[in-house]
Amino acid sequence: MATRVLVLGSGGREHALTWALAHCPEPPQLFVLPGNPGMWELAQPVDIPIHEQREIARFCVLERIRLVVVGPEQPLSEGIADVLRDAGVPVFGPSRAAAQLEASKAFAKEFMTRHGIPTARSRVFTAEEWREAVRYLEEHPLPVVLKASGLAAGKGVTIAWTREEALQALTALFEGAFGEAGKVVVVEEYLAGEELSVLALCDGNQYVLLAPARDYKRALDGDRGKNTGGMGAYAPVPWARGAFLERVEQRILRPTLAGMRAAGTPFVGCLYVGLMVVQGEPYVLEFNVRFGDPEAQVVLPIADADWLTLLGTAAQGRLARSALRHRARQVACCVVLASEGYPEQYRTGFRITGLEAAQQHGVLIFHAGTRWEQGALWTAGGRVLNVVSLAPTLEEARRRCYAALECIQFEGKTYRRDIAAGVEP
Ligand code: AMP
Ligand code: GLY
Repeated sequence: MATRVLVLGSGGREHALTWALAHCPEPPQLFVLPGNPGMWELAQPVDIPIHEQREIARFCVLERIRLVVVGPEQPLSEGIADVLRDAGVPVFGPSRAAAQLEASKAFAKEFMTRHGIPTARSRVFTAEEWREAVRYLEEHPLPVVLKASGLAAGKGVTIAWTREEALQALTALFEGAFGEAGKVVVVEEYLAGEELSVLALCDGNQYVLLAPARDYKRALDGDRGKNTGGMGAYAPVPWARGAFLERVEQRILRPTLAGMRAAGTPFVGCLYVGLMVVQGEPYVLEFNVRFGDPEAQVVLPIADADWLTLLGTAAQGRLARSALRHRARQVACCVVLASEGYPEQYRTGFRITGLEAAQQHGVLIFHAGTRWEQGALWTAGGRVLNVVSLAPTLEEARRRCYAALECIQFEGKTYRRDIAAGVEP
């Protein structure tokens, strides 16, 4: 009987994970909670609210689920992995304690400082230290970066180019623009360089690296506009290899895993290291404790890997590194189709057409904010669809992506036109 696997989440990342698992040498029987319409041909939906952790654990035990793969950070920071492990269900995803690396930027900063892991210089302030924070900002060189310490869906970061902006951002955070997440603020130096996402599958001790990826976080072309969850991505990044990646492993990954282990909170799951590379040197901007979205949509399809074995053995603390044969056999480009207005106010409920015509271009389409109703597909979120193309060269992958997405129509369809543009091979 096929292994039974449950994927938690409902975005493009979880669709990509489900797709990757479905294409294993011995495909598992897949369940998704809650999933999205794009996943339904691959997996059976489970109708339990994602915050009902005990119900989910009960379901897993009853249905003999042998692996749970957790997509988003929220349930991890709320301890879903602990609840499942306590019930005897193997989980690919960190404990609540280990998820602090993402859920508290203050924790992550303190951890990095303690372990000598390169990162932007910073200070942490609580709302009680408002005055000190203002004084600090008045002296800090510009630009200066302010971050909500807690989870803010990638939107709690302000790069302030003037004192006024910095003070405004501080006020907004302390006054609760991001709720409790912003009541602790990280103020850090601005780093200018190239961004890179390095994802590693970890079993608490060992790890394997996936292909380094580039994410486009800003809403508008030319990296302008608001920070979003991610508007597109490509992988691998041609310059991120060899000695550079070894430096990332030596200075960042190994000390991070060793530090978490030494603290009694070993990291199991996908460790996402968000880097700024300044003159060839990697600095950590953030840790995430799960696959990136949209990075997963590019790094999973290009790898030659048995994902069931990789994620399953990692969950059991004995990562079978050989199940990842090649990080990247091909190159992938992903363009996100979003609802007009995202990441701020946007409207949903518009009919989506043209997916089949798009697929004629040989692309993968991973759903994010979609809904199936009355025999048709409708928009249901900020990020709606991910169009992913694999090819031998990035230029070709990019061309095919943009040709395919022309076929897809919905009111308010918005996307960046410069994903993977002008990348030197
Ligand atoms: P984070 O959620 O911390 O990754 O921040 C979101 C985005 O803000 C990053 O992807 C960067 O584009 C930008 N950013 C964050 N921290 C810095 C920094 N110290 N210097 C420059 N840009 C930053
Ligand atoms: N693409 C950025 C993230 O997943 O956090």
